[in-house]
Parts: sequence; C-alpha cells; structure tokens
Amino acid sequence: NWNRPKEEVNALMKLLRNYMKTCLKTAAKNDMKVRVIGDITKLDVDAIVNAANQSLLGGGGVDGCIHRAAGPKLLEECRTLGGCETGNAKITKGYDLPCRYVIHTVGPIWQGGDHDEKQKLVSCYQKSLELAAEHHCRTVAFPLISAGVYGYPKEAAMHIAAETICDYLKGCDMQVFLVLYDKKLVLPKDLKVFEFVGYSC
Ligand code: AR6
Repeated sequence: NWNRPKEEVNALMKLLRNYMKTCLKTAAKNDMKVRVIGDITKLDVDAIVNAANQSLLGGGGVDGCIHRAAGPKLLEECRTLGGCETGNAKITKGYDLPCRYVIHTVGPIWQGGDHDEKQKLVSCYQKSLELAAEHHCRTVAFPLISAGVYGYPKEAAMHIAAETICDYLKGCDMQVFLVLYDKKLVLPKDLKVFEFVGYSC
C-alpha cells in the first residue's frame, strides 16, 4: 500500500537508492548492470519474469498484465506445464509480448516471516536466472516477486531482489532490470537514479 505518509515513502526511497547504488557499484566492478524501470510487459528484453501462482494458469497483478499482453497462446502453453512449486520457475515463449520468453516463478505468500519466506523468495530469483542463462538470455526483467497480492513487505522484497540478483550476476554477463511498477514509489528526484519506461497495464 503506497498511500503512505510522505516520510515513509521518502525513507524507503533513501533505502532503495542506497541498495541500488551498492548494486550499481558491484555491477561496475563485475562488469554487469542492474537497472530499475517501469511496466514489465513493455520491455524488449530476452525474458521477463512473471510472479505467478502454483497453477500457472494466470491471476491478478503482474500475472494478469502479462497474460493479457501475451494473448491466449501463453495460457495454452502454461496448461501443459503441470503447475510449479513455490520457489521454483518454469519457462514459456513470450507470444505477443516483445520479449522472447516468460519465466514463471511462484513466490512465497507472506505469513509473518518464519515460514521460510526469505529462502523461497531468494530461490525464485536464482531459479529464474538459471533458466534465463540456460536459454541464453542476455537481458532479463523481474517484477518485485511476492510484493503485491502475496503480501511480502516491499522494502524487504526489494532488498532480497537486489542482493540475490547481484550475487548471481558476479562473473556472469547478463543485464537485469528490476521493475518498480508503482508510480508512487518514485519521486521526481529519483529519476536521476532510476530509469523508467511506460506504466500502462
Ligand atoms: N509490471 C511490473 N510490475 C507490476 C506490474 C507490471 N505490469 N503489475 C503489477 N506489478 P503481484 P505476487 C507489481 O501481486 O505478490 C497473482 O494473482 C506489483 O506492484 O503481481 O507475487 C498471481 O496469479 C508488485 O510490486 O504478485 C498470484 O496468485 C509486484 O508486481 C499472486 O498474484 C508483484 O505483485 C502473486 O502475488
């Protein structure tokens, strides 16, 4: 819920800027790139990651956006996959989307933090990046997995995303985009730090 007091949003943005600065520094050191941008369905990358549910048969949030933009053939292929466990990932074609592949991963539902949520969330990013690498993807975009309907606290979700992506990318030649969808998440001064594309869904 980003209808929060301005101070909270500012504090979060400070935190985020610091994380991203750290990531960018690490990125420069390891010859890799981490960027933060907007609506994932608009991205012309090799693969986008979907925050799906275990059925892999569509839903709300970014899952709904991706299925709407990809067209009915995506659901057809998803039906053949036999679902997916939490923390794991499966890959399909991108169909009407600009990307070649969609990697569907199932994040943990937030239950207070003592149900292995963190390990499962880390695993989502790792398995997705492994699948991307197996399919020779050079550019991959992630939404903030579990940070919407599944209720993972956004700050923690962003921290885990940034850290896990940076760790994976050490010594690996891939460009990863971390997508912050909500306009309210970003203040005009942050546009210098973050890079954005469109927001329509
Ligand atoms: N581009 C980028 N990010 C987006 C977009 C978009 N077009 N739309 C939403 N987000 P959520 P979850 C952000 O709820 O928490 C579905 O019903 C959103 O603001 O999509 O993992 C599935 O079928 C949030 O920060 O995924 C599952 O049942 C982030 O994407 C369940 O929701 C993830 O929010 C999965 O819940």
